[in-house]
Parts: sequence; C-alpha cells; structure tokens
Amino acid sequence: MSEIKNLCDIVIFGGHGDLAFRKLMPALYHLCSDGYLDNQTRIFLTTRVDMDNAEHISLVESKLHEFLGEGEFDKEKFEKFKEQLRLIKIDLADEESYEALKNSLDEFPHRDRVNYFSTAPSFFGAICKALSRWELATKESRVVLEKPIGRDLASSQEINIEVLKYFKESQIYRIDHYLGKDTVQNIIALRFSNRIFMPLWDANNIDHVQITVAESVGVEGRGGYYDDYGALRDMIQNHLLQLLCLIAMEPPCSLDADNVRDEKVKVLRSLREMTSQDIAQKTVRAQYEKGSSDGKSVSGYKEIEGLSESNTETFAAIRVDIDNWRWNGVPFYIRSGKRMRKKNSEIVIQFKSVPHSIFANKGRCISQNTLVITLQPNESIRLKLMNKIPGLSENMRLQQVDLELNSPMNIERKPLAYERLLLDVIRSNPTLFMRLDEVEAAWKWADVILDSWAENIPAMKSYSAGTSGPSSAIALIERDGRSWHDE
Ligand code: BG6
Repeated sequence: MSEIKNLCDIVIFGGHGDLAFRKLMPALYHLCSDGYLDNQTRIFLTTRVDMDNAEHISLVESKLHEFLGEGEFDKEKFEKFKEQLRLIKIDLADEESYEALKNSLDEFPHRDRVNYFSTAPSFFGAICKALSRWELATKESRVVLEKPIGRDLASSQEINIEVLKYFKESQIYRIDHYLGKDTVQNIIALRFSNRIFMPLWDANNIDHVQITVAESVGVEGRGGYYDDYGALRDMIQNHLLQLLCLIAMEPPCSLDADNVRDEKVKVLRSLREMTSQDIAQKTVRAQYEKGSSDGKSVSGYKEIEGLSESNTETFAAIRVDIDNWRWNGVPFYIRSGKRMRKKNSEIVIQFKSVPHSIFANKGRCISQNTLVITLQPNESIRLKLMNKIPGLSENMRLQQVDLELNSPMNIERKPLAYERLLLDVIRSNPTLFMRLDEVEAAWKWADVILDSWAENIPAMKSYSAGTSGPSSAIALIERDGRSWHDE
C-alpha cells in the first residue's frame, strides 16, 4: 500500500481499443487497488460505440478477467474500481462530440489531467485540436503518445508539430513501454551503483553486445497495422534502440529526466550512419514462412488475409556501431522477430578474453565472461564466470558458472510496465519517456536503412516459423567470429 495517493482525471482516447483493454486497464486496476490512486480519481474511456453504463462495466470486467494475471481479479476490488470508471461517447474526428467530456471534466476544472492517446497517430492532431477548442488543453494537462510516432522522420515530425501546437514539450509523454519494465530500469541501477562495472564498461574490456527481442507469437490480428510498419519500425527504432542507449550511455549526473535523456540522445547521435554497402552487409530482413510454434503448426506471414504480396519484414538483425570513445570498435548486434522459437528478450554483454591463459589447452577451456540481462520471459541478471571443477585431476579443470543476482526483497507482484509508466505520468516524472530529440535521432538513423530496404537491398530472406530466424542472421555475426547467445 502506498503512502501518497495521487488524484487526477485520466482520459483514455481509444478507451475500448486493444491496448486499453490489454495493458492500460490492468495497470489502472492495480494502481487503484494498491492505493496509488485516490479513489476520487476518475478514469474516462472514450468510444464511438453506443453502449449504456451497465454494458460498459461488464465489458471492462470481462476484459480484466482476460488480461489480468492469474488469480489477480478480485470481485471486491473491482466493485470499488468500477466506481471510478466513466464511459464517454466520442467520435474522435468530430469536435462537437467532445462536449460531454468537457462537461464532466469541468466538474473539477483545476484537477491534474492525463490524456492518453491510445489511438492511431493520425488522430493525435484532431484530439489536440478538440481539447483546445473545448478549453481542455489546460496547463495541468499532460498527454501520453503511444508509439509508433510516425513511419519515418518526416511523418514523426508532422505528428509532433501538430501536438506541440497545443501542448508544451514538458507536457508530452512519449511512451516506450520497454522503459517501464523493472529489469530495464535495473540496468541503470546495475551500471551506476556498482563500482566494479565502472572500469570494465568500455571498448578495452567489452568485446561486443547483443540485444535480442524474440517473440513466439505472430502478428495476432494486427496484420493491418503491422504490415505498414514491420520489425524495424515496430521494435528496433524504439524498444531496441532504447535498450541500447541504456547500455551505452555515459553516466548522467543525476536521475533527473533531462540529464538521463541528454545522455541517451548523445548515444543516438553517435550511431554510425550506414552506407549502402554497410546496409547490404550488416543488416538482415526476413519474413516468416509456415512452421510450428509450441508444437502446433502455424501458417506463414503471407498467408494472412490481404498480405499475400507483402514485402514487410517480421524479423530484422543489424550490426550497429557507435562512433565515440567508449565504444570504438565494439559492435552491438541487435535482432528482433515474430514467430521465433521462443519468447526471449535479453541483453548480452560479452567481455574480452583474458590476455594470456595459464591453464591447459592454451586457454581453450576459458569462456569469456558474460553478463546476461534477461527481460523476458523470466527476468534475471547473470554474470558468467569461470570456476574450478572440484577434484584431483592433474590439469586444473574449469567450468563456467552463473553468478545470479536475485532481488533480496520478496515482493508479492512485479509491477507491470504500464503501471510504472502511468504512475510516472501522473506524478509528472518524464525520465522514462522519450523526448522529441530522441525520437528524431532514432528515426534519422533508421530512415537510411528503411530507404535501402525499400529498394530491396538487401533482399528479403525467409525463415520457418518457430526457428531462430534466417541463416543470414547467423552469418551476420559469425562473419565477425562471434555467435548469438542462444542457450
Ligand atoms: C509492441 C509492439 O510495442 O511491443 C508489438 O508493437 C510487440 O508488436 C510488443 O508484440 C512486445 O512487447 P512485450 O512487452 O510483450 O515484449
């Protein structure tokens, strides 16, 4: 139970959409039930659909049953939570239809307000305009923008310019839910509160870094959206680059939002711009074909209705180089894909070998130290070290063992990423949100690759569903004498 109860009004535009039901409502349910939100906090869900309040409440209840973790739904807690919910019928494109929202919000005109745009970005401008027309773009308001913000630098700038007409940058929270994951925040703790890593965290000691976000699921009914975006826009431009920033950034002078974001943006600006030749050699894009997942046969991406001619990648792997002193010559291999062998998100920091081995077989038995930060499915941090195998053999025999970091606190439930992020918006803490310059720097780097991919360079590869991706992704790293950390 928290000490401080936050009081505000939360409006979710697109309140009956997939994201709202799957992620936002479970997060708000927990925040309310665990006492982080005052019970006078009102949660408005907007929808175009005609529905009365009883139907609305029962819909939310059934969705919570579906999307809360096992055993988390509690009838008594829901009875309280439902009192905080309001249904507002709005056609997002029709300014007049926002009047009901105006009337409800104005019951408490100076209350803090969080406007969550859980809609396609094409609506962001219209929603802002309507909020301004009804004098709802108050100085106490904040807006949360869901990704994707644009498909490239130009379209993302258009969207941001539109929102910035009505809200100041300090009121805009661009969400990347990976930054809300507990283990991702732990990267900051691990790096900046442990002295032992300080002298090791650079090109003198680190051989390379791998970042993998693999999903076993396909596009799950989001084919229409996904086909317009693909793995580079959907995952790499945002989630994977944000993870890369946390690993690569210089120590900020404090955890203040701008200090952290200044350091991240420096990394993004140091990403080496790829030449056409680099893109041909150091990027891989691929689409999954039929195969099997969790023991069941699954169809290929092109078999999804309307996608038979698709040229969209469901897998991408890239060798990224960072042009600065700390990371000179240290490649970051990043990859992400749908319908992979298993759900697995991890960051692997591979240290260099010892300079000289005193052990038998000229050191062939010495594996490099590796720090493995696993985000999914089970969060963990493991440092792989060499250790002697007990026994009397003449030549000392070694084995690699895991030093595992377990959180000493036995907390009942790890907070959801969205829970953390929503609470940060409510508390007006933008540290874990992307500033405009970060989004733009990430697009600037991605655009060059996207342009080349649009010209079919390199050619699209394929992989069977349920595998680790195309063989070219293996070749990408093996060409450099390294291999993916696939346990
Ligand atoms: C979203 C992408 O941002 O992240 C989805 O749009 C993807 O395509 C999802 O499935 C993955 O999130 P998580 O937290 O399940 O790894």
